[in-house]
Amino acid sequence: MTTPVRTGEAKLRLQTMAAGITERFPSRAHALAQPPAGSGLKPVLGNYGFPVIGHILSSLVDPLEFARRRYERFGPVSWAGGVGFRIVSLLGPEALETVWINKDKAFSSTRGWAPVIGPFFHRGIMLLDFDEHRDHRRIMQQAFTRSALDGYLALMRPGIRRTVTGWPASPNFPFYTSVKHLLLDQAAEVFVGATLGAESDQLAADFHDTVCGGQAMIRADVPGGAWARGLRARERLERYFARQVSARRVGEGTDLFSMLCRSRADNGERFSDTDIVNHMIFLLMAAHDTSAIAISMLVYELGRNPDWQYRLREEAMDSPNDELTLADLDSGYPLLDAAFDEILRMYAPAGTLFRQAITDTEIAGHFIPRKSQLAINVYASMRLADWWPDPDRFDPGRFLDGADARPVHRYAFAPFGGGVHKCLGQQFADMNVKAVMHQLLRHFDWEVPLGYTPLMTWGTGPTPADGLPVTLRRRA
Ligand code: HEM
Repeated sequence: MTTPVRTGEAKLRLQTMAAGITERFPSRAHALAQPPAGSGLKPVLGNYGFPVIGHILSSLVDPLEFARRRYERFGPVSWAGGVGFRIVSLLGPEALETVWINKDKAFSSTRGWAPVIGPFFHRGIMLLDFDEHRDHRRIMQQAFTRSALDGYLALMRPGIRRTVTGWPASPNFPFYTSVKHLLLDQAAEVFVGATLGAESDQLAADFHDTVCGGQAMIRADVPGGAWARGLRARERLERYFARQVSARRVGEGTDLFSMLCRSRADNGERFSDTDIVNHMIFLLMAAHDTSAIAISMLVYELGRNPDWQYRLREEAMDSPNDELTLADLDSGYPLLDAAFDEILRMYAPAGTLFRQAITDTEIAGHFIPRKSQLAINVYASMRLADWWPDPDRFDPGRFLDGADARPVHRYAFAPFGGGVHKCLGQQFADMNVKAVMHQLLRHFDWEVPLGYTPLMTWGTGPTPADGLPVTLRRRA
């Protein structure tokens, strides 16, 4: 029988084979553009790769190895071909800092993200620029205050408890698949304030199709294709949210949708109905896959590092109650904090970010011509041995007080980005991961077979493609 996992495995194997062939294609390295005379800047070096598709397959099949090879050959700023584009890739904290701080306003998020996810998430806050972005962020921040987060935690706790404690002990429990379901139900309750059942199932399906649309390989509105399905799903989501905005503005809901409808900046400004719809659809995407990847990879690493699992369980058992408050989460989890940071370092869930240079500019001493499409490689940057000793080893100890392996650059550890677009949901993600892990550690222990490494694909970041099977045992 053909299962989605088997189909995924077969597709990955095929892609790996094809990537091997395309990478052997002889492609001469040359400068992206000549720096202006006397500027003292270096040209960005790179090569196009295989005709038309460029390096796209190798960068998807093994993004880490691909990035490390380019870093070794060309340094922190290089270019590569990909389906008709030349993409400038940025690696390492110095290059990342320049773009995030964006001191000359030379880099546009709108133009960077538009070709990647524009049709599905247009006018989401991450896709806005400069003054308009600042104005929207001031309003949206009101939906992420501490009291708002407290409200979300109260909404999220019962569902997490119910679902996690209801998971069956099993030698082959598909953890990533299950945590995605949990988070989709949670999104319906906490983000949208919807009741579970047919309404939340439809929401989850439309949301899933919208995200898949943004990741489609064939990027055209062909009937039956992922792109077309994504566009129709987005239209349904737009109608679903638009219908409810007026009632939510005057209601008392504590879900994120209601909070966004009532948010006002200090100067009294609030979102238009259309803004709310666009931001809601974006927020669902920003929160969902990123958190699912982080929790799943943490469970995977704790499954192969039983000593750390044991220490984290002791910490969770030390907490007197099952119903955690924000204050408990803030102070009572130094080991889980360190383990979560280490997972974000190793498996950056928002692995690549995009910008476009809107003027001739410079990054790390390299000349970047106007209209260059930039890929900020957060994932591989946090796996460079230049910045992290033994970068592929899971060692939460790096983040514990007194550890001597702390990063030596402010942006060496930056899974939530930096500058004005830095993640608005960092505390939300932190609280969500801890609330799930608290239940899981107290009610189960788990392991993965010796030598097992999950089959990975690429979503918003490195993503398990095999459902991430673990052996889950219920604790007495
Ligand atoms: C482990 C989980 C998460 C990670 C690693 C993560 C990472 C990131 C990163 C790297 C960015 C910067 C994008 C850019 O510069 O182009 C970002 C932006 C954003 N994230 Fe997150 N995120 C996570 C979870 C969440 C959650 C749970 C929410 C909401 C509840 C959220 C909301 C946002 C928003 C609104 C932005 C755009 C901010 C702006 O443009 O001003 N994120 N996130």
